[in-house]
Amino acid sequence: DWTMAAYKDQAIAKIREQVGDGKVVCGLSGGVDSSVAAVLIHEAIGDQLTCVFVDHGLLRAGEAEEVDRLFRQHYNIPLITRDASDVFLGELEGVDDPEVKRKTIGRLFIDVFDAEANKIDGARFLAQGTLYPDVIESVSPTGGPSVTIKSHHNVGGLPDYMKLELVEPLRELFKDEVRELGRELGLPETLVGRHPFPGPGLAIRVPGAITREKLDILRKADAIYLDEIRKAGLYDEIWQAFAVLLPVRTVGVMGDARTYDYACALRAVTSSDGMTADYYPFPHDFLGRTATRIINEVRGINRVTYDITSKPPGTIEWE
Ligand code: XMP
Repeated sequence: DWTMAAYKDQAIAKIREQVGDGKVVCGLSGGVDSSVAAVLIHEAIGDQLTCVFVDHGLLRAGEAEEVDRLFRQHYNIPLITRDASDVFLGELEGVDDPEVKRKTIGRLFIDVFDAEANKIDGARFLAQGTLYPDVIESVSPTGGPSVTIKSHHNVGGLPDYMKLELVEPLRELFKDEVRELGRELGLPETLVGRHPFPGPGLAIRVPGAITREKLDILRKADAIYLDEIRKAGLYDEIWQAFAVLLPVRTVGVMGDARTYDYACALRAVTSSDGMTADYYPFPHDFLGRTATRIINEVRGINRVTYDITSKPPGTIEWE
């Protein structure tokens, strides 16, 4: 009979068999999948593993610091961190098409990651936290004929794919199983229970062209929203919750003055694998309280809406 403990041991044996005494590079995103993959591989082969964390400037508040704290300081896993926000935000300037954004980020990610990975002498393997739904969705997102709804970008990419062989220990697992495996590996609950976060980051939560100013506004609204969700004890009931900064400004009134600021949309869904999703039925008082806080505390937003679209026909992310 099947247990996660047994699965872990098998996965470790399989990694050891595949890589032998070779060196492995693993891209970290700060999310559950790449973190579980990294800790599992570290348990299998120790310091033959080096992690690479590329900060593309599209992360939420405090994320880069958290990755450093957990992997370098807590787990003592060799970690290379590269702040490449100038490169990404520079290249994305004026880009408003969702697919162009995704492809640009994916391409730059590979370039930057590749340059960092090449500094690791003699690396032969590339580890990725690819899950089963990633495998299917990149083939056919609807189960029907193969159509690309969104070009997925996952941490790691395929640097020097001619040279590096893939190690994908989570390929057979769904998200809830990855979380269970993470618990089995002793990862902190705050990380294991973390909502998924897409590779292209906040870029796909700012429809239209991205600016640093818009990203800063979005980070603040998003942090308040998640803070309210945690305070209400709802975080673990929700698959994913985030704010989207809309590319539209609306007229409002603050005290005696007219305002003309951005509108923001809040999104929260329940799901078991991200392939279908229902919008989360927040109580109205929760929504009212959160909207008031965002409008009072975030300069640049004067209107908040709640997205009640399920998937299908919507997707979880807006782009
Ligand atoms: P959609 O928006 O397609 O998202 O309903 C389904 C799930 O996938 C996440 N997502 C991504 N994850 N790279 C990722 O690693 C991506 O490019 C990407 N796009 C969407 C999304 O957050 C949701 O959990």
